Amino acid sequence: MSEATRIVPAGVPHAGVLSALQTQCFDDAWSPSSIAEVLVSPGAFALLAVQGDAVPVGFAVARVAGDESELLSLGVVASQRRKGIAKMLLASVIERAVAARSRALFLEVAESNDAARLLYGARGFTAVGRRPDYYRRPNAVPIAALTLRLLLSSRSAP
Ligand SMILES: CC(C)(COP(=O)(O)OP(=O)(O)OC[C@H]1O[C@@H](n2cnc3c(N)ncnc32)[C@H](O)[C@@H]1OP(=O)(O)O)[C@@H](O)C(=O)NCCC(=O)NCCS
Repeated sequence: MSEATRIVPAGVPHAGVLSALQTQCFDDAWSPSSIAEVLVSPGAFALLAVQGDAVPVGFAVARVAGDESELLSLGVVASQRRKGIAKMLLASVIERAVAARSRALFLEVAESNDAARLLYGARGFTAVGRRPDYYRRPNAVPIAALTLRLLLSSRSAP
């Protein structure tokens, strides 16, 4: 666990920072306006992992909808990986979902993303669906998406 890392709430004013972080973590990042659009939708929220003088090193975007929550995106900049930061972000998302009385937290992950699958598997997520050829990129073999679910109860809070 990284001692110097803090998890703080983020909102529409942070859409540019969130988009920049996402660009560092994914090939197909969302624009600041797309992120802002998500964040104004009901139940949506974002978190930033920051270090020192509020230097952002990771992020999560999620949404509570009825009694279910969805983790829409999560990433940590390459230089700060394997320090427990994704684990901290995930714990905070779970905490928010439990506080909102969600019964389950869902997410989608590329079948080929071993690091993320290990992260989520260690926290208790299990696969409940598979979408073949879900991630399509130019000149690349399509990759399946797995839908993962974590069942929540008041005791799931980290
Ligand atoms: C996946 C990702 C978020 C992990 O972030 P991280 O801060 O390095 O993860 P953590 O240090 O909190 O690791 C938590 C656990 O996840 C697993 N894990 C994370 N990265 C791993 C890797 N490269 N190889 C194997 N296991 C890994 C391990 O079980 C790890 O626990 P351990 O360090 O005690 O063994 C990061 O690699 C990333 O941003 N990748 C690009 C974006 C992405 O794939 N996001 C998820 C899409 S659903």
